[in-house]
Order: sequence, then structure tokens, then C-alpha cells
Amino acid sequence: MPDTDPRDFDTGLAPEELEPARPRPIATPWGSFALFLVDGRVLCVQSFCPHLGGPLFQGTVAGSRVTCPWHEWIFSLETGRRVDLAGRLLGGSVLARCDVERSARGTIVLRAPERRPSI
Ligand code: FES
Repeated sequence: MPDTDPRDFDTGLAPEELEPARPRPIATPWGSFALFLVDGRVLCVQSFCPHLGGPLFQGTVAGSRVTCPWHEWIFSLETGRRVDLAGRLLGGSVLARCDVERSARGTIVLRAPERRPSI
């Protein structure tokens, strides 16, 4: 009997396989997402920036924020919201994100996102 909801996606990866400095892009049933290791926690947002598709997994991570390497939009990995000044003033772009759990065998399990990535 499976130990996860059938709508969940077991990545087959353990958190110990992630490195804080190297977010890991991963194909999921809902599109490409990336796993970030932040202060020992795994956070998961869409792999590509909603602006013009920059690879967020190659961005700069500071705390629980990632800066897109292409035009430096900054997003919260916790909420998916754009948090740089222009983003806060103008609103708008929000990353698709998945809640993360751990399976009984210790692997990272992603819960289905509320919406799929827009890019
Ligand atoms: S592609 Fe990410 S900020 Fe432009």
C-alpha cells in the first residue's frame, strides 16, 4: 500500500542529496520545479522565471529568497511572491510552488501545486 497520496510526487531524492548552493531542477507531473535546501529545509518552486524564463535554479540564493540570474527579479521561496521593490510596488508575478513532505522511506515528496508554472 502506498504511503503517499496518489496526487503527490515522490522525487526519489533524499534531502541529504541536496546542496544549499546547488538547487536541483526536477521534472514533475506538473512541469519543471526546483528543489532548494534552505537552513535544512527543502523548498520547491517552479524552475523557470515567470518574467522571461530565466533558470531560477541557477539564481543566487540568500536566506529563503532567490534572485533570477537574468534580470534580478527576487522571489520568496516560501510564498513564491516577487519581493524586490518593483515587484512589491507593482504586484503580479508569483511562482508556482509545492509543499514538501518526507516519505516513510525518507525521500522528498511534493504535494500537487495549486497551479502549474506559467512558463
Ligand atoms: S527572466 Fe527572470 S527576471 Fe527576467
